[in-house]
Amino acid sequence: MRVGIVGLGSISKYWINALESNKDVALVALCDAVNRDATKYPFYEKLDQMLEKEQIDIVLVSTPPSTHLELVRTALLQKKHVIVEKPFSTTLNDLEVCVELAQQNNVILYLAYHSMFGETFLKAKEFILEQLSTGDKIISTTAQCEDDVTKYHSGHSWIFDPAVSGGGALIDCGINILSMLLDILGPLEIESVSIMTPEGYKVERIVDCKFLTKENKPCTMFYDWLSKNTAAGFHTFEFESGISIQYEWITRTIKKLKNGKEEFSMVINSGESDSNIVPMSQEYITMLEDALKHIRKEKTQHLNCDAFYLTMKCYEKATRK
Ligand SMILES: NC(=O)c1ccc[n+]([C@@H]2O[C@H](COP(=O)([O-])OP(=O)(O)OC[C@H]3O[C@@H](n4cnc5c(N)ncnc54)[C@H](O)[C@@H]3O)[C@@H](O)[C@H]2O)c1
Repeated sequence: MRVGIVGLGSISKYWINALESNKDVALVALCDAVNRDATKYPFYEKLDQMLEKEQIDIVLVSTPPSTHLELVRTALLQKKHVIVEKPFSTTLNDLEVCVELAQQNNVILYLAYHSMFGETFLKAKEFILEQLSTGDKIISTTAQCEDDVTKYHSGHSWIFDPAVSGGGALIDCGINILSMLLDILGPLEIESVSIMTPEGYKVERIVDCKFLTKENKPCTMFYDWLSKNTAAGFHTFEFESGISIQYEWITRTIKKLKNGKEEFSMVINSGESDSNIVPMSQEYITMLEDALKHIRKEKTQHLNCDAFYLTMKCYEKATRK
C-alpha cells in the first residue's frame, strides 16, 4: 500500500513516524500548500498534482478541518482510500457527502481518533469488557477532563477560529473523549449540552454534556479546554455490583474499586510523553494498524463516524453561556 500525506503541520510527524515504522505501507509523497520542510520524499503543493504524478493507494489528510471536505472528495473521486484526521470537517453534511462518495467508489473512508488507541484506554477497556463479560452492567459513566490547549497550540492558531476549526473544546479534544465513551458504551442519546465561551473568544472553552446510554443509564462529560489546573482526564465506569473502573489518561493510571475501596491500581508504563501530555507516537502506530485492517477489509466496513456525528448533534443541542 502506497501512502501520500497532505498537510505537513504539527501532527504530521506522528503519521510520518507511524508510516515509516509499518512494514505493510510505503510513504511515497508529501503535500503541503505552504510548508516546504519535506526533504526525503517527493513534495507537491497541491493534492491533485501529487495524485497525478504518484501511484498512491491511501491519502492521509492532516490539514485543518475546514479544508478536509475538498481534499477528501478529491481523493475519494480518484478511488483512493482516505484516512482523515479528527474532526472530520466543520459540518455534518460534509460527512454525509463523503460517506456516500466512499461507498460509490468502493473505498474506505477512515476517521482517525488517536485517543482511542492510547495504551491506558486500551488496557482499561480490557478490564471493563472483562467485568461486562461476568454479566455485570454499567450503571453510570463520567468523564471529567481538563487541560490547557495553549500549551500545545499557539494563541494564533486556527483552532480558535470557528470558520476553520468548527468550534472549540468539543470539536477539538472533546471529540476524542467522545470517541472513547462511544467505543465502550455504544450509541449515546443527548439529554443536555451546555457550552461556555469566554469573553474575547469565538469558540467554547467548557463543554458539559449529559447523555443516556442505550440501557437508559447516565453518562456525563465535562471538559475544560483552557484550564489553569494540572491537566487531568478521569473516566469512571460504575457497575451494578459496586465495582468501579477508573482510568486517567495523563498519569496513565487505572484503578479498580469495590464500593469505593481500592482493589488495585496500576500505571501503564508506555514510555515518556512525546507531546505535552501523552505519548502519542504509540497511539498513531496502533491507529494506523487499525485503519489498515479496515482498508484490507479484515474488519467489517465500519466508518467510525459516530463521534463526529454526536459532536455535531451536541452543537445543535447546546445552550450557550
Ligand atoms: N496538533 C495536534 O495536537 C493535533 C492532535 C490530533 C489531531 N490533530 C488534527 O490534525 C489536523 C491538522 O492539525 P495540525 O495541528 O497538524 O495543523 P497545522 O496547522 O499544524 O498544519 C496544517 C498544515 O496543512 C497545510 N494545509 C492547509 N490547507 C492545505 C491544503 N488545502 N492543501 C495542502 N496543505 C494544506 C498547512 O500549510 C499546514 O502546514 C487537524 O484536523 C487537527 O484537528 C491535531
